[in-house]
Amino acid sequence: MNALHSPTHHLLVAKGIGKHFGGLSALDQVSLNIPSHSIYGLIGPNGAGKTTLFNVLTGIYRADEGEIHLNGVSLTHSSPNEICKQGIARTFQNIRLFGNMTAIENVMVGRHVRTHSGMLSAILRLPSQRREEQEMMAHAQGLLDFVGIGHHANQIARQLPYGDQRRLEIARALATQPKLLALDEPAAGMNDTETATLGRLLQKIKASGVTLLLIEHDVKLVMGLCDRVAVLEYGRLIAEGEPISVKNNPRVIAAYLGTEAA
Ligand SMILES: Nc1ncnc2c1ncn2[C@@H]1O[C@H](COP(=O)(O)OP(=O)(O)OP(=O)(O)O)[C@@H](O)[C@H]1O
Ligand SMILES: [Mg+2]
Repeated sequence: MNALHSPTHHLLVAKGIGKHFGGLSALDQVSLNIPSHSIYGLIGPNGAGKTTLFNVLTGIYRADEGEIHLNGVSLTHSSPNEICKQGIARTFQNIRLFGNMTAIENVMVGRHVRTHSGMLSAILRLPSQRREEQEMMAHAQGLLDFVGIGHHANQIARQLPYGDQRRLEIARALATQPKLLALDEPAAGMNDTETATLGRLLQKIKASGVTLLLIEHDVKLVMGLCDRVAVLEYGRLIAEGEPISVKNNPRVIAAYLGTEAA
């Protein structure tokens, strides 16, 4: 079989996902195939179900219907911790850092999912753990450098500028060594310059071999960055494909115009 005909490998496959809150279908028969080593955009008006889908994919919510596989491994009934170990990491729409800890400590917490000694022994600083702790610190510093905030390593997280807190969340998520990194509106609250820098960071993450799933309202960022885009409206997938076709899809245009009119 030549390269032209080799099938795309999908890292994440979600099939027929449903999530209902009382009478409201936040997600209704949503299916996604996310190609390995891609940046996959997830867009849609407010309340469309984007964050709910992240919560289902990361095990915070249990899907009422459907199945989720990562690299062929079923995650449908897995806990958030198991899902993290399998290789999905995320950031949150509302930043969730340990505000009173330093930047580097926040990243080291993320790293614990991949190390043998527990968080407690690291906190107690048992001699047997020092070596691992030093390895962790070097790794965490490397990640801070990678996202461009290495100079803030010892600053208290909540005192960092907003854009830097968002990048710190990305560093912490990367510390779990994910295969899939899911970002919930990483550019929210950023100015144009910060957004452009973020875009370059996301490309760098992709180049490092991590697949990205990106919820983002900044359509310009999404269209410029993503290999494929899926559009949710009222819990349903209304379009999926390459950015250019999605952008010109009448249903997508109508969904966005409807939002603006409202
Ligand atoms: N825990 C919950 N209980 C009840 N309803 C919920 C819950 N979580 C989400 N919803 C509802 O599900 C729908 C989808 O919400 P969701 O947060 O997933 O949207 P979103 O696409 O992320 O929107 P936004 O762009 O505003 O962040 C909304 O109507 C929301 O009110
Ligand atoms: Mg949301």
